[in-house]
Amino acid sequence: MANVNAGILGTGRAYPEGVLTNADLEQMVDTSDEWITSRTGIKQRHKAAEGEYTSMFAVRAARQAIERAKIDPLEIDLLICATVTPDQVLPSTGCIIQTELGAHKAAAFDLAAACSGFLFGLTLANTMIKTGQARYALVIGAELLTRYVDYTDRSTCVIFGDGAGAAVLGPVEGERGILATRIRSDGRYTEQLFAPGGGTRMGLTPESFAAGAHFYKMRGNELFKVAVRSMADVAREVLEETGYKADDVKLFIPHQANQRITDAVANNLKVDSQIVYSNIAMHGNTSSASIPIALDECVEMGRVHDGDLVLLASFGGGVTWGAVLMRW
Ligand code: COA
Repeated sequence: MANVNAGILGTGRAYPEGVLTNADLEQMVDTSDEWITSRTGIKQRHKAAEGEYTSMFAVRAARQAIERAKIDPLEIDLLICATVTPDQVLPSTGCIIQTELGAHKAAAFDLAAACSGFLFGLTLANTMIKTGQARYALVIGAELLTRYVDYTDRSTCVIFGDGAGAAVLGPVEGERGILATRIRSDGRYTEQLFAPGGGTRMGLTPESFAAGAHFYKMRGNELFKVAVRSMADVAREVLEETGYKADDVKLFIPHQANQRITDAVANNLKVDSQIVYSNIAMHGNTSSASIPIALDECVEMGRVHDGDLVLLASFGGGVTWGAVLMRW
């Protein structure tokens, strides 16, 4: 299996029908469409209704990816669900999705790396395919972040949205597929984005629930700088490893955290703004789902062609970050 590369064979995406616009948020907290648009680029985000849960959207995105990859669910050897908002504590959302899809031969599990989860998943899938331990892998990023958002905290509630994206990977021939990956984390920055309650350290009691211990807390301003530096550095690393230049990249999809972060990373890397994809206006920050949703939109819109060099970069809570370079 020495010269096998893993490539993306099919993509899919799904999100709740419910939408929360900036105008809606203006009615809920002290904010304005002008502030949200100029500081983040976000105009709306999807929000799941009561009764909807993470795997519902993951399964829909995955079915689309499997159909487009033209494989049978039983051919999937590895199923990774990147999420920090699972259906429940046990079993993994991956196992729930596996059952819904009929992918009974896959090793299924969840991967918690926040917004970098999809790229961490691609990295694992790539390794298993390259070493012959898996032929087909399904990597999903799926989040219902709005369940952990405090709609009285204007600094976080305008940012996050819900959705899922998926990709089927398999062996590809020639110089195509994933060329380089880098994943990293640094737990020293944990408290820049975290939810203290709901785990074994601070279980949810009526008191901790009422105090909002399960809600995301974010020091956005501090994260901003780390996010720009980390994403640009790691993207540069995968380019350097493979001998490519930023000019060679035909499509750059950064994690959709903030339009200003996207612009700053693109500027730092000196990539042409024409090749940078952004959908943050429509989805907000969907954490691990943001890159696969964006990738699927690019495929559908014809923004990626056979042979194109595609660069993905992410940054998220933990903190975690990573980059993947592939030839489509
Ligand atoms: N509406 C109006 N004003 C708001 C607001 C809102 N929704 N949210 C915050 N503000 C105010 C703050 O209270 C502050 O007011 P003050 O100066 O009177 O204290 C002011 O706006 C500036 O706040 P600040 O946090 O410095 O704004 P910012 O320009 O850094 O933008 C984020 C905030 C969250 C949009 C931005 O920091 C960000 O995107 N950070 C990175 C997020 C990220 O990468 N997360 C991890 C990956 S998922």
